[in-house]
Amino acid sequence: MTLQETAREILADGKGILAADESTGTITKRLDAVGIESTEETRRRYRDLLFTTEDVEQRLGGVILYDETVRQDALDGTGMVDLLRRRGIVPGIKVDAGAKDLAGFPGEKVTEGLDGLRERFAEYADLGLRFAKWRSVISVSDTLPSATAIELNATGQARYAALAQEAGLVPIVEPESIMDGDHGIERSAEVTELVLAATIEALRRQRVALEGVLVKTNMVVSGYAGPDQAGPDEVADRTLAVLYRTIPAAVPGVVFLSGGQEDAQANANLDAIARRGSQPWTVSFSYARALQGRPMAIWAGAEENVAAAQHAFAERLHLTGAANRGEWSADEERAAS
Ligand code: 13P
Repeated sequence: MTLQETAREILADGKGILAADESTGTITKRLDAVGIESTEETRRRYRDLLFTTEDVEQRLGGVILYDETVRQDALDGTGMVDLLRRRGIVPGIKVDAGAKDLAGFPGEKVTEGLDGLRERFAEYADLGLRFAKWRSVISVSDTLPSATAIELNATGQARYAALAQEAGLVPIVEPESIMDGDHGIERSAEVTELVLAATIEALRRQRVALEGVLVKTNMVVSGYAGPDQAGPDEVADRTLAVLYRTIPAAVPGVVFLSGGQEDAQANANLDAIARRGSQPWTVSFSYARALQGRPMAIWAGAEENVAAAQHAFAERLHLTGAANRGEWSADEERAAS
C-alpha cells in the first residue's frame, strides 16, 4: 500500500483521528485534574476504555498512540495495536520527544526527538504502526514567533517526515500555533500562514513526498484571552484562506487539533469549515481534549463508571463526526453536555 493510500484510508468516509498519544507527563496532568492517580495500569485501563467503545470505528479511521501504549495489552489480552487493527482503525505513533525551551529565544520552543529516529521508526514499522505524528509549538504574540523558531521547527518537521516516509509510515506534520494570549484573529491568521508556508517549503527542500503527508494544524481563531472572539463563520473563512495560500492540493488531508477550545466551540468551528463544501484536500479532525475531556472526567478511575464514560465518548464522537460532515447541531451539543 502506498503512503497516499494509507493517508486516504485514515480519512475515508468522513472519519477522523483520535489523538490518544499524550506523553506520560501530559496524561498525568489530565488524570490528576480529575482526581485519578496516573500509573501504568490506570493509563492502560483508560486507553482500553476509549478503544473498546462500541462502534468507534465508524468515526475513527486512525488513533495516535504513545510509546507506552503500543507495548501494552488491552484488558482482553490483545495487544493494543492489534485491538485497533482488528476494528479496522489504523494505528499511529507520536514520535517527537516534546517541545523544549529554545536557547536564546525566551518564550519559544523547539521540538526534540530526531536522534535515533531512523531505528525507532524501523521498530514501529515492525510493530504494525502505519502513521506517525510530530508536533511543534509556535508561540504567538505581537512580537513572536521569531523567524528562527519558525525555521528550526519547520526543518525538524521535514527531517522527521523524511524518516517516516523512508520507513513506510505516513507522517502527520503538526506545527501548532498556540492560541493562548490576547492576540486578535488577524494575528493568528498571519502567524499560521507563515508557519504552514515555512513547513511546506522545508518538506519540499528535504524531498518529502507531499502526496504521503497529512498536515495537522490549529484552526485560525482569536487568541483565547482576547476581548473579541470571532464566531464560526469568520473562523472558517480565515482558516480556509490560510490553507488555500499554503497547502498544495497534492497533500491528501488536513486535520485540525482542538487546541484547548471548549468542546462545543471546536465542533461549531469544524462544522462551519465543513459547510464550506469540498476542498482540494480531505478536511477532518484529530482531536485529543475535545473528545476525551468528558469521558475521562466521568470515568474518574472507577470500574463502575466505564459504561457511562464509554457512552460519553461515543456521544463526543457522534457530535464531532456530525460537525465533520457539516451536520452538527448546537441544540444536540447542548443536550449532550
Ligand atoms: P488537542 O485536540 O487537545 O489540541 O490535541 C491534539 C493533539 O494531538 C495535540 O498534539
